[in-house]
Amino acid sequence: MFNHQVYTERRNALRKLMPSGLILLPGNSESSYNYPANTYTFRQDSNFSYFFGLENPDFVGIIDVDNDIDYIFGNDFEIDDIIWMGPQPKVVDLAVQVGVKNTASLNELSVFINNAIQKRRPIHFAPTYRVETTLQVCGLLGLKPLRIRDHASMPLIEAIVKLRSIKAEIEIAEIEKAVDTAWEMFTTGMRMAYPGRREQEIVGKMEGISIAHGRPVSFPIILSMNGQILHNHHHEGILEQGRMMVMDAGTETALNYASDITRTVPVGGKFSQRQREIYEIVLNANLNSIAATKPGTLYRDCHFVAAETIASGLKDLGLMKGNVKEAVAAGAHALFFPHGLGHMLGMDVHDMEGLGQINVGYDSEIQPSKQFGTAYLRLGRRLQTGFVLTNEPGIYFIPELIDMWKAEKKHHEFLDYEKIEGYRNFGGIRIEDDILVTADGQRVLGKPIPKTVAEVEATMADKIM
Ligand code: GLY
Ligand code: MN
Ligand code: MN
Repeated sequence: MFNHQVYTERRNALRKLMPSGLILLPGNSESSYNYPANTYTFRQDSNFSYFFGLENPDFVGIIDVDNDIDYIFGNDFEIDDIIWMGPQPKVVDLAVQVGVKNTASLNELSVFINNAIQKRRPIHFAPTYRVETTLQVCGLLGLKPLRIRDHASMPLIEAIVKLRSIKAEIEIAEIEKAVDTAWEMFTTGMRMAYPGRREQEIVGKMEGISIAHGRPVSFPIILSMNGQILHNHHHEGILEQGRMMVMDAGTETALNYASDITRTVPVGGKFSQRQREIYEIVLNANLNSIAATKPGTLYRDCHFVAAETIASGLKDLGLMKGNVKEAVAAGAHALFFPHGLGHMLGMDVHDMEGLGQINVGYDSEIQPSKQFGTAYLRLGRRLQTGFVLTNEPGIYFIPELIDMWKAEKKHHEFLDYEKIEGYRNFGGIRIEDDILVTADGQRVLGKPIPKTVAEVEATMADKIM
């Protein structure tokens, strides 16, 4: 964990942003896999981790806004647990490490909350995303599980988004560590991408690197020759010469900060002319939109920089036609680039999305687009120094979407369907980096992961048998 001062300062900053009452921040419990005692790897709730820092299950944090007191509720382990788990620290000793002096058992939590309810004190909580937490909060507050979202506190959501959106130096250093581990995962994956290799073998090796650095991957790895399926978690394929392979993966640090990287490589180590042409359009979309990323700019406008680069490149190849700006304004580019440029990154890969994606990516100034493609942009709002976000443009040839649009003659003034037909089995290409918005622009975080055609080919030449 960070120094206890970090957590005290974060709680005090949150207190300052809240009107009054109590803030209830439940940590996560263990979550069972196939029978109660067999659990998934424990992952702490990111808000609890941000404000209370402890990586143990079954703790609840309370921040008293009116009285400048913080509490941690949790139970000490009994000898029956210690036999299986080894010696365990007391709750009171853990709490001190994150600057909290007041602790009590979970039984006392319900008495504490009942007392606050009787005094009609507001009790703020964030939206829940696990059944166990939903039931816990509903039990404490007398709410119905299906209605819990209606009771989540908007002032709390807004305050947390405000604080967690601006990354401190110590957080940026954590994210860079996560990208550095991703460098090892990706260069290894690239060096394995030769014909005859099973996709799953590469997935296993990349996950192994993540675990060897201490933590599992930050989300299930997307790795496939069928990169046109945006979130493809099927890894049964045997790599074939002439195909491209998309790898989208990341890891987490011990303090829960994530990386989220994508690279696309030619199976066999050399891009064909056609692959290189499409790849370099995606690379230019990535580079141009990174260059446009700076404080004060709407991220939606960076998305449009990427979209226009893609439309312009595809026009040069004859797949699109007409005026590029008009094509993008109409949404024609979304046949090839049907998702958004990126999202916030931090303690969650899609940072803070548990608080509601719209509350993180949009605000009173800007609301999500309703147009196909741009509607999937998760982050549209004005950028500030200290934001960390992903930049992940792509070009995909999705046969089902091509067939549908072609039958509808959709955007036919901007799309050459005959030419596009020749690419229907191409697959997809995505390139994703993790970017810090700095006072004077931006910086790609972490050790640079091979990205140009020359860099990718040079890395792949050092083949792993
Ligand atoms: N890893 C999923 C994404 O890039 O959003
Ligand atoms: Mn990704
Ligand atoms: Mn991403």
